[in-house]
Amino acid sequence: MIKLTTLWLLSSTVLACTTNNSNTDSILQRAEKQLTVLRASSLQDNNIPRSMNKEGHIRWIETPYDWTEGFWPGTCWMLYQQTQDEKWKEAAIAAQKLIEHHKDLTNDHDLGFIFNNSYGKAYRITGEGQYKQVLIDASNSLITRFNKNVGCLQSWDVVDNWQAERGWKFPVIIDNLMNLEMLFEASNITGDSSYRNIAITHANTTMKNHFRPDGSSYHVIDYDPTTGEVLHKVTAQGFADESAWARGQAWALYGYTMCFRYTRDKRYLDFAEKIAQFILNHPNYPKDGVPYWDFNAPNIPNEIRDASAGAIMASALLELSSYTNGKYLQAASHILDSLDGDTYTAKQGENGNFVLKHSVGSIPHGNEIDVPLNYADYYYIEALIRLKERGL
Ligand code: GLY
Repeated sequence: MIKLTTLWLLSSTVLACTTNNSNTDSILQRAEKQLTVLRASSLQDNNIPRSMNKEGHIRWIETPYDWTEGFWPGTCWMLYQQTQDEKWKEAAIAAQKLIEHHKDLTNDHDLGFIFNNSYGKAYRITGEGQYKQVLIDASNSLITRFNKNVGCLQSWDVVDNWQAERGWKFPVIIDNLMNLEMLFEASNITGDSSYRNIAITHANTTMKNHFRPDGSSYHVIDYDPTTGEVLHKVTAQGFADESAWARGQAWALYGYTMCFRYTRDKRYLDFAEKIAQFILNHPNYPKDGVPYWDFNAPNIPNEIRDASAGAIMASALLELSSYTNGKYLQAASHILDSLDGDTYTAKQGENGNFVLKHSVGSIPHGNEIDVPLNYADYYYIEALIRLKERGL
C-alpha cells in the first residue's frame, strides 16, 4: 500500500487519483497464498480454523458452537471476491454449511458475528438470494434476546460457565454492537423494520450506559432485567473494571461507524469520532498503531499487543474516513503498514498458516495469548480490501 504518512497533505480525493494499489494487491496476494494452505487443512479436517495451539497445531472452533466460527468462511468469501477463484467459494460454502444449524440458537448473542460475517458476506459478495433466509432465521433467534425494559439484547446467559460465577443478571458487552449489522441487514432484506428498531434501541442504550466521558468503553454493563437499571460496570476480558480493553474499544469504533452506515444518524458518526479520538490520542497508543491488549495494562511498554484489535480498528477507521473527508485514512494506513511488516505478518508456512501473529483472546481467562486468531485475519483482509477499494 502507499505510505500515506508521507503524503498526508494531499486530500484523499487527490490520493485516490494519483496513486495505484499494486502494493495493496501484492499484500493481499501474499495473504491469499498463506491462507491457501489453511484452506487445505480446513477441507481435509472438515472443520473451521480458529487459532494455533501451544504445540503449533491448528486450534479448531469449539463445540457446541463458537463465536469465531463465521470468520473463516467470511475470509474465504472475501478472497473469492478478490480472486474470483472458485476454490474460495467452495471453501466458504463448505465451512458455513458446518455451522448453518446454529442459526436457531437463542442462548447467545454472537449470532451476528457468526452469520453476518459468513452468510451475510456471501449474500453481499455474490448477490445470490439463497443466503438470505439463514440471515433472517439467525436474526429471529437473536432478537429473542432483546429486553424492552433494558433496551438491549442480552449478551451472555448467566446460568452456566464462568458467566454464572459473576453474579450478573443481564450482562451486555460492548462487543454486542457488532451483532447489530445483521439486524440492519435483516430489515433491508425483509422490509420489516422491527430488526432495525431493535438495533437502534440497543445502540442508543449502549451509547448512554457503556461509555465514560473520555469516550472509552466499559466491557460489561450488567442491567436489572425488570427495571433496566444499571447494576454493574465491569470487565471480563480487560485488565480492570475501569480500564479500556483494546478490542472493546475497537468493537465500539467499528460498531458506531457501522450504525452510521445504516442510519445516517449523525449522532453515531460523532460518537465514532469521539471513540477514534480516545484511541488515537491515548498516551499508551503505540507508535506503530497496533494497541497493547489493554490501554491501561500495568506494564506498558512491556505488555502484549493485540493485532486483532489493530486490524478491527484499521478496518473501522477506513470506513470512518469515507464519511469524514479522509480524516482517519492516515491512521488506518499506518496500522496496516505495521501489520504488513515482519513483526506481525507471519512468514509463509509459519504461524499455523494464519496471516497475522500477536493477537490476544482473553488474558484474564488465560486463553489465546499472543497467538494468531481467525478474526484478526478476517478484519485485516477486510481492511486491505477497503483500502484497495479506495484506490490505495
Ligand atoms: N467477542 C469476544 C471478543 O472480542 O473476544
